[in-house]
Amino acid sequence: MIDKIKELLKETEAFSIKTGEELEQFRLKYLSKKGEVSLLFNDFKNVPAELKKEVGLEINKLKQFAQEKFDSFKEQLDDAPTGTNSLDLTRPGEPLELGSRHPISIVRNEIIGIFSRLGFTVAEGPEIEDDWHVFSALNFPPEHPARDMQDTFFIDKENEILLRTHTSSVQVRMMEKTQPPIRSIFPGRVFRNEAISYRAHCIFHQVEGLYVDENVSFADLKQTLLHFAKEMFGEKTQIRLRPSYFPFTEPSAEMDVSCSICGGKGCNVCKQTGWLEILGCGMVDPNVLESCGIDSEKYTGFAFGMGIERIAMLKYQVKDLRLYFENDVRFLRQFKAAY
Ligand code: DAH
Repeated sequence: MIDKIKELLKETEAFSIKTGEELEQFRLKYLSKKGEVSLLFNDFKNVPAELKKEVGLEINKLKQFAQEKFDSFKEQLDDAPTGTNSLDLTRPGEPLELGSRHPISIVRNEIIGIFSRLGFTVAEGPEIEDDWHVFSALNFPPEHPARDMQDTFFIDKENEILLRTHTSSVQVRMMEKTQPPIRSIFPGRVFRNEAISYRAHCIFHQVEGLYVDENVSFADLKQTLLHFAKEMFGEKTQIRLRPSYFPFTEPSAEMDVSCSICGGKGCNVCKQTGWLEILGCGMVDPNVLESCGIDSEKYTGFAFGMGIERIAMLKYQVKDLRLYFENDVRFLRQFKAAY
């Protein structure tokens, strides 16, 4: 029996393994249930008691050797870059799923695109502001209700540090550091102390526009906004300007666009009027120009400000403002943009 074991040991040593098939043959022949090692263990009961120790040792040596040889070849073959386990380099890669842009970003980029093509540059200002840039320089009288804590989030009431309530603050910053001609838009986040509902939120987005130069007129304002409305809502869109009041513009107006849903005939969205209000605008008040260090005898300008949520609401028919802030992917997934 000892001889047989030694013979088998030599055999296993000599057994050449180059492929997975040969490895499997090796396993079947020596290590499987009916393989040589198992057979030896079966015969072990017939070994005379005085030889059991020696024979047992030899069988275990053989078993251990065969198992180690099997394991090391298996590892080599599994790692090998050839044969059936190899990597298929012609397989298509696993695609990365593309996200979609937030509807507010899509609309903001569209607005920026339209005004950029008219030669407007884009600038931004701080969200944490002071009273001067948000109110005083914009001709708000000291007792104006917008300065009230009910409307404005104050960070430091004593030093009049607050969260800006509109992006008009950025036109002040622009005029303070640049002499005309100025032709810029200012997109950004604004904050108001409002109860959150489907139609109001304490955070929203605006785009402010400003054009200051010699001889800028109300006709320039009207034509610029008409062009914007047609680009944004379609070639057939009409606009109408209604007189209004803002402390920083004189004269001031609010602009409506013809309802793009019903084409002006009257529907639920435009509350049967055929018109939708989208922005405030006007000629920059000479007081504002002077506050910012611009000669109001020489220069005139127009300004406008619009809410991005409002335009997105009209464009996508989203009736609840809160959806824009909840980050529910089922909502966000629906928006695909070229921008
Ligand atoms: N700042 C105004 C608001 O938040 C919007 C606005 C109205 C901006 C008229 C302007 C303007 O520049 O001329 O409601």
